[in-house]
Amino acid sequence: MKKTIYKASSSNIKKAVDILNRSGIVGFPTETVYGLGGSAESESSIKKIYEIKNRPLHNPLIIHVAKLEQAKKIGIFNNIAKKLAEAFWPGPLTLLVEKKKNNRIVSAATSNLESMAIRIPSNPIALEILNIFGKPIAAPSANLSGTVSSTNAMHVLNDFGDKIDLIIDNGDCEYGIESTIIDVRSNKVKILREGSITKENIFDCLNQNIEDYNDSKIISPGQLDKHYAPKAIIRMNIEEPEKDEFYISFGYDLSSAQTINLSKDSDLNEAAKKLYSTLRKIDDMGIKKVAVAPIPNIGIGRAINDRLARASK
Ligand code: TXA
Ligand code: MG
Repeated sequence: MKKTIYKASSSNIKKAVDILNRSGIVGFPTETVYGLGGSAESESSIKKIYEIKNRPLHNPLIIHVAKLEQAKKIGIFNNIAKKLAEAFWPGPLTLLVEKKKNNRIVSAATSNLESMAIRIPSNPIALEILNIFGKPIAAPSANLSGTVSSTNAMHVLNDFGDKIDLIIDNGDCEYGIESTIIDVRSNKVKILREGSITKENIFDCLNQNIEDYNDSKIISPGQLDKHYAPKAIIRMNIEEPEKDEFYISFGYDLSSAQTINLSKDSDLNEAAKKLYSTLRKIDDMGIKKVAVAPIPNIGIGRAINDRLARASK
């Protein structure tokens, strides 16, 4: 197989930008998960992203930018959006805003919707690519549609092989779970996808109540049940696994079962960081049945439980 993974040096970052300028696709690190990036202003890049990922065309992409001024050129930022952007960007938060008329973003990138999901990632390599490229980058998570996101460069290579020319390797992602998505188009702020920026963080910033997607109509395909799914059958909140089950533990280890511990110290951030590589490892091991220990439903634990619930459907 040809060489695809390159370390995050300035010459390789320049190579990545050259590829983006030629409407090619690159795998790149963000602080959440690896992204599969293409120019958001190029029809052929967007087409390639959907093809390579095998992603349904009705599932819109997140548009990544380097600066708030750039985001304001393509999306309408009301006071709530501005406040959240100023508080949490760069960082693992995606804002769903109204699309600005006459922007240069390819309409298919947002599935021809009137809205647009935008974020500024905090990973320095992602920011450097965005800054040098100078234009918005459309980037879904770098995994085949419906499967578990990639949290290191090998995951990206395993999913796409040499279908993409270059993957920038920046080791394991800092958070390991996709960004929090918030719909800020009206005063009724809604969380569409849980992530490491929690409901409490948003509440503290805005001083107003946040609605859960659970009680609202599905507007983001990422809310669909069959997302983030490994091949194995998963049961959640299990304290004692069955004999034929592999165990994903948290904190306390059961010595009798075959186990991967997400965090021996019961640290939710560590567990989030290890979650997807653990699910991928289990599939690679050919394991069919998995039981997962109870994960406290607080802070980033809510995002972990959200992804596990989808994985167990
Ligand atoms: O952390 C992340 O957000 C990563 C990194 C690479 O930035 N990206 C990511 O993208 O998770 P993706 O494509 O795997 O998930 C984006 C989610 C999807 O569920 C999509 O439906 C939703 O965002 N989304 C994007 N644009 C939307 C829109 N205009 N309206 C509703 N949902 C939208
Ligand atoms: Mg994804």
